[in-house]
Amino acid sequence: LTKKPLTGKKVLISAGPTKEKIDPIRYFTNHSSGKMGFALAEEAQRLGADVTLVTGKVSLSTPVNVKRVDVTTAEEMYQQMIKHFQDKDIVIKAAAVADYRPITTYDKKMKKQPGNLVIEFERTKDILKELGDIKTTQYLVGFAAETNDVINYGQKKLQDKNLDAIVINDIQAEGAGFAGDTNVVTFITSGGIQKNIELTTKNNISKQLLMLISSDLKDDTK
Ligand code: PMT
Repeated sequence: LTKKPLTGKKVLISAGPTKEKIDPIRYFTNHSSGKMGFALAEEAQRLGADVTLVTGKVSLSTPVNVKRVDVTTAEEMYQQMIKHFQDKDIVIKAAAVADYRPITTYDKKMKKQPGNLVIEFERTKDILKELGDIKTTQYLVGFAAETNDVINYGQKKLQDKNLDAIVINDIQAEGAGFAGDTNVVTFITSGGIQKNIELTTKNNISKQLLMLISSDLKDDTK
């Protein structure tokens, strides 16, 4: 029997949206379904890895033999990613994290007032950037959801956040990005490898991404 490519590797994946509370009834979020991150977790486990999945609120069942940690807000996702980061070999951030949260939240339902409503937001932590700052041996992979000039913005995130690789999805391309079962991505490593993966299921994309990551990992240890 041939050894699976990720046997012995510890993989940490984030998935899904974050939800930022305004009051007990209302919150800010985004369109992430968690499918991309869950597909990565499932395929990484199939390829032999020991997988931990930190996820925002989604309605997906946990892939077999994957350790799941549920979170709601960007701050909770940050805490759990930091907690599980140290001993991992590969860390992939497929989650769609809120960049802003309301400064004031209410424990009781906000009542309607005459006129317009203004809500002030503050920045959340950039989890990926913080992980890039503290990483030692971890192979760190970010995602970028862009609508224009996708490769340039993606490459900028790769450098600014000290990543080993980035997966760029042009969320306006047919069949790509949020919520559906398919995606179209470009994978770029800090070493300059660039690979386009054409329209296919998120599971297929995940398998291909993990194989690319696995071979880039091997190159690093040469
Ligand atoms: O969940 P699905 O419905 O399957 O959709 C998949 C997806 C489109 C959500 C996924 O493929 C994807 O692109 N995820 C990243 C979305 C995103 O937030 O991109 P971004 O360009 O805003 O952020 C770039 C990277 O920084 C991401 O890895 C993100 O996890 C990370 N980030 C962003 C903000 C923040 N405060 N902390 C972060 O760590």
